[in-house]
Amino acid sequence: ILCCRQCERAGTRMGKAPATYGASTHGLRGDYSGMLADYTVEQDYASYDEAAQGRWRRLYARQMKLVPGRACPEFLRVIETLDYEQGVPRFAEVNQRLSAATGWQVVAVPGLLPENVFFGHLAARRFPVPVWLREESEFDYIVEPDIFHDFFGHVPLLFDPVFADYMQAYGRGGLKAEGLHALEYLARLYWYTVEFGLIDTPQGLRIYGAGILSSPSEIDHALASPEPRRIAFDLRRVMRTRYKIDSFQQSYFVIDDFGQLFRETAPDFTPIYQQVAAQSTLAAGEVLPGERLFG
Ligand code: PHE
Ligand code: CO
Repeated sequence: ILCCRQCERAGTRMGKAPATYGASTHGLRGDYSGMLADYTVEQDYASYDEAAQGRWRRLYARQMKLVPGRACPEFLRVIETLDYEQGVPRFAEVNQRLSAATGWQVVAVPGLLPENVFFGHLAARRFPVPVWLREESEFDYIVEPDIFHDFFGHVPLLFDPVFADYMQAYGRGGLKAEGLHALEYLARLYWYTVEFGLIDTPQGLRIYGAGILSSPSEIDHALASPEPRRIAFDLRRVMRTRYKIDSFQQSYFVIDDFGQLFRETAPDFTPIYQQVAAQSTLAAGEVLPGERLFG
């Protein structure tokens, strides 16, 4: 949940915030007052009123019309089985299926987390999800990740064994990158894979990035618009590339399969961070000579 849309802005705010993230003092959305030391809270299911339940069902129905033939098969296979059409999911129910499939859990949190807390959860195969749902005025666009973005966009892929291992490796890599002052590079990797990744399949390009899958308008932009660049995934290239947090992406990176993602991110990043730091940073929409582009 760290790196969705406005995470950079939120991260900046967090950097300035006092050591405790009390709801009244830091400007982040969510109630951080009753959480445990690992930032988890109980999901108070009665807190979702009828308006919220109806909003969830409309968000879900709208998105389900858009994903067939556009989301990757790994996503589509799972989303149907999750009973999301009933209303806001219960963490405990999703966890029964998810832990059986890959050993992952979703944990309820107040909202955005400090980076080290977020990485620590991922490293332990726990995906943090805010308990709150967006307001009606945010139906089309939400500036922070909410429970819909996370359950719809992220959770289905955690059922895929290879992608699940990638996410855990990412969490471990995050804890390590903090000491190497390389979080900026690692955040770009998350952004261009977990949030906005495309995948090449025999049927054509498909989406696996949660930021696209949970957006009503970016689905079409990512796959069909002539505007953005669709560039073959290259680890160093991704780490060099800035991204847009408040508009459609100008570039997407395309993987062949989740195995490629796992393999290419498996090596020790320490020397890779040094190489990337020595190279120029690229603008979001920039294309380099000789780069392999998808249509
Ligand atoms: N291999 C990375 C490192 O050594 C860790 C990592 C794996 C980061 C997968 C992101 C994704 O730092
Ligand atoms: Co997200």
